Amino acid sequence: MAERRPPELDVDRLIADRRTRIIVCCGSGGVGKTTIAAALGLRAAERGRHVVVLTVDPARRLAQSMGLTSLDNTPRLVPGVRPEQGPAETGNGADSPGTLHAMMLDMKRTFDEIVEAHADPDRAAQILANPFYQSLSSSFAGTQEYMAMEKLGQLRRADEWDLIVVDTPPSRSALDFLDAPQRLSRFLDGKLLRLLTAPAKVGGRAYLRVLNAGFGVVTGVLTKILGTAVLKDVQTFVSALDTMFGGFRERADYTYQLLRAPGTSFLVVAAPEDDALREASYFVERLDAERMPLAGLILNRVQQLPPVHLSAARSLAAAEVLQSLPEEAPRLLTIAALRLHAARTEQAIAQRRTAGQFTAAHPLVPVAEIPAQPEDVHDLDGLRDVGAAFGGGSAN
Ligand SMILES: Nc1ncnc2c1ncn2[C@@H]1O[C@H](COP(=O)(O)OP(=O)(O)OP(=O)(O)O)[C@@H](O)[C@H]1O
Ligand SMILES: [Mg+2]
Repeated sequence: MAERRPPELDVDRLIADRRTRIIVCCGSGGVGKTTIAAALGLRAAERGRHVVVLTVDPARRLAQSMGLTSLDNTPRLVPGVRPEQGPAETGNGADSPGTLHAMMLDMKRTFDEIVEAHADPDRAAQILANPFYQSLSSSFAGTQEYMAMEKLGQLRRADEWDLIVVDTPPSRSALDFLDAPQRLSRFLDGKLLRLLTAPAKVGGRAYLRVLNAGFGVVTGVLTKILGTAVLKDVQTFVSALDTMFGGFRERADYTYQLLRAPGTSFLVVAAPEDDALREASYFVERLDAERMPLAGLILNRVQQLPPVHLSAARSLAAAEVLQSLPEEAPRLLTIAALRLHAARTEQAIAQRRTAGQFTAAHPLVPVAEIPAQPEDVHDLDGLRDVGAAFGGGSAN
């Protein structure tokens, strides 16, 4: 079976291109979105760009290595960034060192900030103290995705960086990120909330009268289900939030447009496994349908074919032969090494086959392979090793 080769994704070229202003790393859970986003940010900064990386839930050690110790919603300068050594062939200005800022998304704080920015202080305080708001802002499905989008919009408006790298939340489905803004505004726009808001608009007394008449039945049922206290919370929250409805939708639209604007690129991250690549397939199709700019697929944690030309079958056969000899420690070690070699070789071949299926379905999507590192990536050197594969051609 002839193996079809995908076009190569040159990530270095993407980050060297000054027109690239936003890179969004998306993909299903656990595939390496945060790692890739951080590695990209570091690589771009070391090649002269002024970068901010917005991370979501980074592993603790990785966060620490980037100087992030708490969720504070503010970009922090990452210490230890150094201009790339060696010839600056790409002309990326190794002479003008870039900078890297990183932040961890604090979903609740971002929500609070929107309220503070859009309501007068008394009203803001009232909303922030509202139990319904508190539960919505920290638990509504999709809030994290929405807030990542919101934060992206804020960073872009601040205009302090020339490249923003966005990591996305650990959703079950990569598509959640794109659906979140609509879902949240649908919710805020929803029938129940409109019903509860409508009387409030009429004003105090009329509000009660209307409630007592037509809406009484509905609220009666709701009160039974939710309890008077909860319903009261919802009502006060919604009437206080009323003035902000337009704001939410406007900003969701703004961010959505930002994602489609020239200068934005999506990188879909996937592990070379069936589930992750299926999810990546959906995402690629969805981006296409939304006319959002896909740069390519990052195939992460690819098992490299071992450099020794010894097939899985032959190494297993050799292990069998050794097995029949009298016992001694070096022999056992050799057997273990041969078996490991066989397993790695088989895994590398299986991954290649799986990746080939993706390429067959999406022959035009450029792909960059990032080798599986010997251990978890939790410091700047580890991120540099990951970034070394961005130049393309390192993986065969
Ligand atoms: N190329 C790689 N080689 C080895 N380990 C890797 C590689 N890429 C990522 N990892 C490790 O895989 C784990 C998951 O990575 P990461 O947290 O970046 O995934 P994620 O997609 O952000 O996950 P989530 O969906 O939970 O946010 C981490 O422990 C990370 O160090
Ligand atoms: Mg992550």
